[in-house]
Amino acid sequence: MTPILLRHLSHEPIGRFPVWLMRQAGRFLPRYQAIRKNHAFWKRVTTPQIAAEVSLLPLEVLEVDAVILFSDILTLPYGLGVPIEMKEGAGPTLERPFVKESDFGIFERFDPKKHTPFVGETLSILSEKIPEEKTLIGFAGAPWSVACYLMGGTPHDKFVVAKRAMYERPKELADALKTLANATRKYVEYQITHGAQLIQLFDTWVSEMPREFFVEYYAEICKSLLRDLRASKVPLIYYSKGTSHLLPDLASLPCDILGVDSLLPLPRVEALTLGAFSLQGNLDPLVLLGSEARIRFQTRRLVGEARTLKHPPILNLGHGVCPTTPVKNVRLFLQEAGAPWI
Ligand code: CP3
Repeated sequence: MTPILLRHLSHEPIGRFPVWLMRQAGRFLPRYQAIRKNHAFWKRVTTPQIAAEVSLLPLEVLEVDAVILFSDILTLPYGLGVPIEMKEGAGPTLERPFVKESDFGIFERFDPKKHTPFVGETLSILSEKIPEEKTLIGFAGAPWSVACYLMGGTPHDKFVVAKRAMYERPKELADALKTLANATRKYVEYQITHGAQLIQLFDTWVSEMPREFFVEYYAEICKSLLRDLRASKVPLIYYSKGTSHLLPDLASLPCDILGVDSLLPLPRVEALTLGAFSLQGNLDPLVLLGSEARIRFQTRRLVGEARTLKHPPILNLGHGVCPTTPVKNVRLFLQEAGAPWI
């Protein structure tokens, strides 16, 4: 049986919208907090039994249509031996941030079987375990967003190091991003071989990229990566946030679904991207910290907007679920967003 979300994407009527949440396998879940106490972050990611258990946690308490691999956008460099620490409150932190574009040469030798075998093993376990109506999502960081962390060392500087390179040495930076894109292609293909049925590329920090660099250099890097991945016939989601300045340009990306933040209503995004693809989003995660009435109201509004779209959307938040969100609020959102149409 083809999973519900994938049937919906091929325009088969399922009578409601499919829904899942970015960061659904994370800190707002009490069971995740318990596992977190016993195992450090990278131990959770690199031990297939633990990573699979964490990926499946949402199914125990939430009516989501998909399971996303528990991992991180920095797993690929971590697997290659780049020391990255997940610091509480600070996010990913590098002991020795990349300083030159030539540092990206390390990605030329990336071999997923050798450097990230645990990802393949986790996906194989998940493929066996998930109910057939659920979709298994694999993911990777898009080259720019990964490079921002590698060059900056911490997210606190608003990625000045990567941005400075973009202005001072755009060609060299673009070459470095191409090398990283090539490794990302291998990494995603490896995930597809091990059972990922849908792929999301996270490009969260393209919000920091001026349009001129996007148009002149970066769009082609993403297009080439997405075109290569399309050969695998698995639907591709390109997610970015804070990209209102880029929406008409994003319309040329060869992906199936554009994941968007909460800033613009979906019909407006569809108009600005010329109806090029299905959309995924886009409730503000902070709405889930509010009252029951507000959650219902905002989610119903989202569903109403979604029903006017040309292509079948996937409902989600506009960014990851906030760690302090009560589980009951998440349930309420899922109930409303995934309610059958009558
Ligand atoms: O969505 C899921 O449930 C799957 C797991 C997942 C994680 N990170 C686990 C994680 C996914 C899809 C990611 C993607 C990711 N990682 C992104 C793109 C999405 C986004 O949020 O914009 C980014 C930018 C990162 C980088 C990253 N990793 C940051 C900024 C942080 C720290 C901030 C935070 O939320 O704590 C991480 C660590 C991280 N990755 C955690 C989790 C559950 C929290 C650390 C912990 O549990 O100890």
